[in-house]
Amino acid sequence: MAQNSTPDFAALRQDFPMLRSTMHGKPLIYFDSAATAQKPQVVIDAITNFYQFHYGTVHRAIYELSIYATHEYEATRTKVKALLNAAKVEEIIYTRGTTDGINLVAQSFGRAFIQPGDEILIPAMEHHSNIVPWQMLCEQQQAVLKIIPINEHAEIQLDNYAQLLSPKTKLVSLSYVSNSTGTLNPVKQMIEMAHAVGAKVLVDGAQSTPHMVVDVQDLDADFYVFSGHKFYGPTGIGILYGKEALLNAMPPIQGGGDMVDIVTFQKTTYNSLPLKFEAGTPMIAEAIALGTAIDYIQSIGLHHIHQREQELLAYATKALQTINNLRIIGTAKEKGAIISFVVNNIHPLDIGTLLDFHGIALRTGHHCAQPTMCRFNIPGTCRISLAFYNTFLEIDVFIEKLKSVLKSL
Ligand SMILES: Cc1ncc(COP(=O)(O)O)c(C=O)c1O
Repeated sequence: MAQNSTPDFAALRQDFPMLRSTMHGKPLIYFDSAATAQKPQVVIDAITNFYQFHYGTVHRAIYELSIYATHEYEATRTKVKALLNAAKVEEIIYTRGTTDGINLVAQSFGRAFIQPGDEILIPAMEHHSNIVPWQMLCEQQQAVLKIIPINEHAEIQLDNYAQLLSPKTKLVSLSYVSNSTGTLNPVKQMIEMAHAVGAKVLVDGAQSTPHMVVDVQDLDADFYVFSGHKFYGPTGIGILYGKEALLNAMPPIQGGGDMVDIVTFQKTTYNSLPLKFEAGTPMIAEAIALGTAIDYIQSIGLHHIHQREQELLAYATKALQTINNLRIIGTAKEKGAIISFVVNNIHPLDIGTLLDFHGIALRTGHHCAQPTMCRFNIPGTCRISLAFYNTFLEIDVFIEKLKSVLKSL
């Protein structure tokens, strides 16, 4: 159960063995959680315990190991249902990650329901994984991809969005929180507006799920995707949530074991949800350990995590604003704990390389969002992305080292 009183974040930090390590002889300051989050010991233990003491496959056998593995694997599905407040466990599909989930919807929903001339809308701040699958689909279906513009703060203006929506719009796909600018989009309102013209909405929850309370029913999202590895869980596992009626109407895109009911050479019938979309032996240890990550995060409470990260964000933003010639890319009113910045004409790679020698891990480049960089007329940014395990002291050290690095360049 989530704690009511403020958690002891200093103590929680001790749960992450990687955060006790050093880089170039300096204590690691890990500011790249938007790319992938560090793992608490309980998640690492869940993986090794499964392989060491319980390993077996799922859904296929009547022996004890398989029954145990199936039980644990399915238990995570129930935990994800609760995490997202989905209506039914059948609405939770295991994928390899956010990218895999978006591609699944593009190729299944898209090829079944998008016709020539139909329109798909995405904002101008999306990760490549929420651009390219729609470009591929539009090419296949002769549909049209339209871009929702963003302003100087990297915010969507709803009147611009409203102008793009029409009965031709069949799908809107957008990130809840942008990985390159940190913008938190008004997703609930945008879903309501899309539904008013009959469009479905996919929410890319890669940067929201680990950092805030998400309720897919309250949002009325048609699809919602996220990655386990950004949620303090293992790589190779992710989630696609879809409304049951939609998932039932969609064809599977991969054929194989587990996704079938009866197979003959004449005709194959498919399994019911969720297995219809889960062909082949799945990522069993990864799914089980994702369940452990969810238990861990829920025991802290996502509302506490959000509050803590907002405090870190405000502190870091204020400190960065004191640095001469530093420009923050993404100054939306509502943000996740992600700060992208550029300094004069200094290449972000140079700043990142020199900070690495001080043990500071931050991201440099286009952050898989080249069109967003184009929008701001820059080749890339430095990006810090914070998690609840980061500290105010780490931000102080980062600011001090950043200042000295900038002096040397
Ligand atoms: C907003 C957003 N969408 C999609 C992705 C892709 O996630 P994955 O590589 O785990 O599939 C990321 C990863 O950084 C992201 O930040």
